[in-house]
Amino acid sequence: MTPASATSALEMRDITVRFGGIVALNGVSLTLGAGSVHALIGPNGAGKTTLVSVLSGERRPNTGTVRMNGTDISTLSALRRARLGLTRTYQLTALFQGLTLRENLLLSLVARDRPALSPADIFRRRDRTRHADEVEDLLDRFALRGKAGEKPAALSHGDRRRLEIAMALATGPEVLLLDEPLAGLSTADAEALVRSIEEGIKGRIPILLIEHDMDAVFYLSDAITVMVNGTVLASGAPEAIRASPEVQAAYLSEEDDF
Ligand SMILES: Nc1ncnc2c1ncn2[C@@H]1O[C@H](COP(=O)(O)OP(=O)(O)OP(=O)(O)O)[C@@H](O)[C@H]1O
Ligand SMILES: [Mg+2]
Repeated sequence: MTPASATSALEMRDITVRFGGIVALNGVSLTLGAGSVHALIGPNGAGKTTLVSVLSGERRPNTGTVRMNGTDISTLSALRRARLGLTRTYQLTALFQGLTLRENLLLSLVARDRPALSPADIFRRRDRTRHADEVEDLLDRFALRGKAGEKPAALSHGDRRRLEIAMALATGPEVLLLDEPLAGLSTADAEALVRSIEEGIKGRIPILLIEHDMDAVFYLSDAITVMVNGTVLASGAPEAIRASPEVQAAYLSEEDDF
């Protein structure tokens, strides 16, 4: 195996997870490059979500190590990893219902710079001023400008998903783990979110993207890893994955939209 590269954001080595007799992950290794979108695909039960929970620190693997930006984080709690900037979006979906979208975004930006935040801080004029450009930029990139003055209750499902991901980005993550961000969205909402990921995140923050929507995966990804039955079947550039007969046979040929 190659040594940890200075440019790898996340490096997983030989991760094994057993649930009783089930081997959910069997010696999985995967490297996420800085600034890239790396998709993790595979049929139901392949072990994708289990891998994400090992990365986030929610599940301790039976064997294996995880490094982030070269540092071994294998023994750190989920909270410590989150504080280091390893961000799994669903953990951050607590929206403040009494605040507008613009204020919710502002709160995430303020929290990034001052973790010991008091509730009154967001209403300080100087915080609003300091983060004004960033808030407006996020509203544009995540297509939320039209709803900026609304409360979360007024949002559609798709708007809400984009807001949650915008807020995750606003906290200044080192790595984003997105587990099926398009699940349950209409075609139009899915397209809007793909555009937001492309315009708002891609190339700035490395993303591990788990997604069943193959159009989105091939459109967004710089690299793809295919998992089947807890093992890595193939890993590489999207064109190589698309052309692989092994991958076709095991997975992609079953996908309607491939
Ligand atoms: N908490 C658990 N206890 C027992 N078995 C589990 C548990 N979580 C997952 N598994 C099993 O581990 C395997 C991998 O599941 P996992 O949820 O990681 O798959 P996945 O690739 O995310 O699938 P999907 O595409 O359906 O989300 C499956 O066989 C699943 O039944
Ligand atoms: Mg899953």
